[in-house]
Amino acid sequence: MTLSRFMADQLRKPSGWFGSAVMTRMLGIASRRVIRVTIDLLRPDPEDAVLDIGFGGGDSVLLLGQRTPRGSVTGVDFSPEMVAETARRVGKAPVRSRVRLCVGDASNLPFQPKSFDRILAVNTAYFWPDLTGVFTEVGRVMKPRGRFAVAIRPASQLRKVPYAKHGFNLYGADQLTTAMEACGMRVVLADHVDEGRRLSQIVVIGERGAA
Ligand SMILES: C[S@@+](CC[C@H](N)C(=O)[O-])C[C@H]1O[C@@H](n2cnc3c(N)ncnc32)[C@H](O)[C@@H]1O
Repeated sequence: MTLSRFMADQLRKPSGWFGSAVMTRMLGIASRRVIRVTIDLLRPDPEDAVLDIGFGGGDSVLLLGQRTPRGSVTGVDFSPEMVAETARRVGKAPVRSRVRLCVGDASNLPFQPKSFDRILAVNTAYFWPDLTGVFTEVGRVMKPRGRFAVAIRPASQLRKVPYAKHGFNLYGADQLTTAMEACGMRVVLADHVDEGRRLSQIVVIGERGAA
């Protein structure tokens, strides 16, 4: 197996000792800025129930917990190693009583309809086999007037990165916007954060209607 294939597999689903020991820290460093920027744009209220899909090393779970001091944070990730590592980190943090984490797939979210005010997915949409299938699931578990933020690195950048040739689905803001609208959400923001820099990020936010 080549190094780029190995890294692609670990980014898609961190696993084994490498996933637990290395990917957790690597993701924390690589995603710190986009996580903070995307949560700032999503603007959770202090009492919101928030869902974090594909939370990886858990930095976003901890930050969401700080931003929702009277609310709750639920995290779902299909890597058992990431759930265990993040549970270990959260267990030492003041937010621990308001966080629950579970192993689960974005395509089949293990939650009741209309459960969440805000939903976040950072650097994970590349790995979903069916974008509209996940967006439909997100729409199902989102409360009326709920908001969903997706952040990805743009296709134009990832095309130059060797590991992204191994099974990544690449998108631009237009494709995320079209898929959200096809799933009944109104797109309230489509931003190219840090455009022109070496590492930039597309952030698209959709809102569910009042019904
Ligand atoms: C590149 S990591 C990003 C982690 C974190 N959001 C960040 O920005 O640092 C992708 C994460 O999404 C998770 N993931 C990928 N596909 C998934 C799916 N279909 N359902 C749930 N989790 C998924 C992986 O296990 C991994 O933890």
